[in-house]
Amino acid sequence: MLIVIPNVLDAEEVEQFRHHLLNADWDDGLKTAGGIAKNVKKNQQLDDSSEPALSLRNHLLRKLSQNPTFISAALPDKIYPPKFNKYEVGETYGNHIDNALMPVPGTGKTVRGDVSCTLFFSNPDEYEGGELTIETQYGRQEVKLPAGDMVLYPSTSLHRVQPVTKGARIASFFWTQSMVRDATKREMLFNLDKSVQNLTAELGSAHNEVVQLSGLYHNLIRTWANPTA
Ligand code: NI
Repeated sequence: MLIVIPNVLDAEEVEQFRHHLLNADWDDGLKTAGGIAKNVKKNQQLDDSSEPALSLRNHLLRKLSQNPTFISAALPDKIYPPKFNKYEVGETYGNHIDNALMPVPGTGKTVRGDVSCTLFFSNPDEYEGGELTIETQYGRQEVKLPAGDMVLYPSTSLHRVQPVTKGARIASFFWTQSMVRDATKREMLFNLDKSVQNLTAELGSAHNEVVQLSGLYHNLIRTWANPTA
């Protein structure tokens, strides 16, 4: 399932990020491409160890840790530090499935990619092309979101970034190792949590059915979640 989370960053934060990103030095994306990616990847990336990459990604990680929809949808165990990329005219990233295991440089830790995320910093009217195209169980989905919005999708999905034909597309992308590895289980938990939240708002947290359903949610988490972090 594809989940869109609006306003992960507010307008002021988006402006701050854009200011830094528009003035940053960008590297050739091929520097970090291995295997199959070398043949299909043509874009630009920020050096992860540089400023502003470090401070921007830390800010984004703080925001993610406070975002209830992200937590409910991804059930994060470990998050790979967010990266930043840019596609200008003629740049694209062809069909691929993201690597399963990603060592985090300098930490000795590895993140298994269960959930892939893209957060947009360019508004749709600033570029043409550049759609994130994801092949889902229910067919092809094209994603192009307002700046500050983010999409989550299972890392098992085949996806691509369509060639940019005008302007520039700047985004952040990262992977999350989920406490619940199976995408179908994660989706059911996310939907159940949403219903519990809606019923709580309608009936109050003391209502017997709300207590029962909320307990059911936690008992499913107990059965399915494997936290390592
Ligand atoms: Ni990818």
